[in-house]
Amino acid sequence: MSTPLKTDWKKICLVSDIPVLGSRCVARPEGMDVAVFRNAQDEVFALLDRCPHKGGPLSQGIVFGTSVACPLHNWTIGMADGCAKAPDEGCTPKFAVKVEDGVVHLDATELATHALDLTAPVAGPQRKTPAEA
Ligand code: FES
Repeated sequence: MSTPLKTDWKKICLVSDIPVLGSRCVARPEGMDVAVFRNAQDEVFALLDRCPHKGGPLSQGIVFGTSVACPLHNWTIGMADGCAKAPDEGCTPKFAVKVEDGVVHLDATELATHALDLTAPVAGPQRKTPAEA
C-alpha cells in the first residue's frame, strides 16, 4: 500500500486580508495569477484568474454565494469547481485551499506546476498570419 504524498502547504495571507465578497491575486513565478476569493460565510476558494469563456479576470468579478460573476460577459463560475453554470460551458482550473487558524494556505506544488499552459487574452484586433495578409 502506498503512502499518500504529503502536501506542501504555503502560507498566503490571513482570511481577513481578503475583502468579504472579494478576492486577492497570488502571483506565480510562471503562469497566470491565482485568484483567492472569500465569500460572505468566510469560505475561501482559489481559481486561476482566467474565465473559461474568453479569459476575463475572475478576480475582478462579483462574488455571491459560492460563485463569481465574470466582469466581462457575466458568466457565473462556481468557485468550488471552477465550472461555468449552464447553459454556459467550460471550467477554469481550481487550486486546493486550506484554511487553518484564519490563515489561507495553497499547495506549493500546485502553484508551481498547475495550469501553466493557459495565458492571458490579448486585447486588440486579431493579427493576420503572413498567409492571410
Ligand atoms: S470572459 Fe468571462 S464571461 Fe466572457
